[in-house]
Amino acid sequence: MSGMSDPQALSLALALGDMRRGVEDPFGFCEQLAQLDQQHFQWPWAREQWSSSLENSEHYALGVLLGSHGPQGLALFHVPDRQGTAHLLKFLLCPPYRGRGLAERFFKLCQGQLEKWGVGGLYLEVEETNAAAIGLYAKCGLKTLTRKKDFYGTGRHGLAMGSMPQGE
Ligand SMILES: CC(C)(COP(=O)(O)OP(=O)(O)OC[C@H]1O[C@@H](n2cnc3c(N)ncnc32)[C@H](O)[C@@H]1OP(=O)(O)O)[C@@H](O)C(=O)NCCC(=O)NCCS
Repeated sequence: MSGMSDPQALSLALALGDMRRGVEDPFGFCEQLAQLDQQHFQWPWAREQWSSSLENSEHYALGVLLGSHGPQGLALFHVPDRQGTAHLLKFLLCPPYRGRGLAERFFKLCQGQLEKWGVGGLYLEVEETNAAAIGLYAKCGLKTLTRKKDFYGTGRHGLAMGSMPQGE
């Protein structure tokens, strides 16, 4: 960790309980999250998909890292069953904040909160060329479960990674 100029400018807003009560767009950031998704991911969700996920929030957990200009990081999990496995759908830290250990802290906070809420494990897919994300997830205790050939298109393979419930 180095070069931390203003990490304290970021605060974590992590909602699972709120969303499970069906609060519509609990942070009021739907538009901004959709924009981050658009800017940083190759296959972003449509604005409508964001709003329907946040509205139909019973089965989603959302973590947002807030900077002075709004969200600078997001973590979105699908949680079909509270005792089951959460599927990480989106994880992002905006470029100026990368390389400082903040993504690791953010991910571990999400993991810890999900555990407190009783979620049994985590599962995700990541492109096998995404060294930063794979390194991050491995550092946070996730293991590679399987390789998914052509998961992201022809010649673009994925890795499934996960942390299983204790004892498995
Ligand atoms: C993936 C991402 C969140 C990592 O953010 P980051 O701020 O660079 O990560 P951190 O600084 O917290 O690094 C934590 C650990 O991740 C690993 N890591 C980070 N960058 C790495 C890299 N380029 N290569 C290998 N491992 C890396 C290291 O283990 C690092 O710990 P260390 O610095 O003690 O070695 C960020 O690059 C990002 O938002 N990328 C675009 C979105 C994305 O690809 N999301 C994942 C979709 S599945």
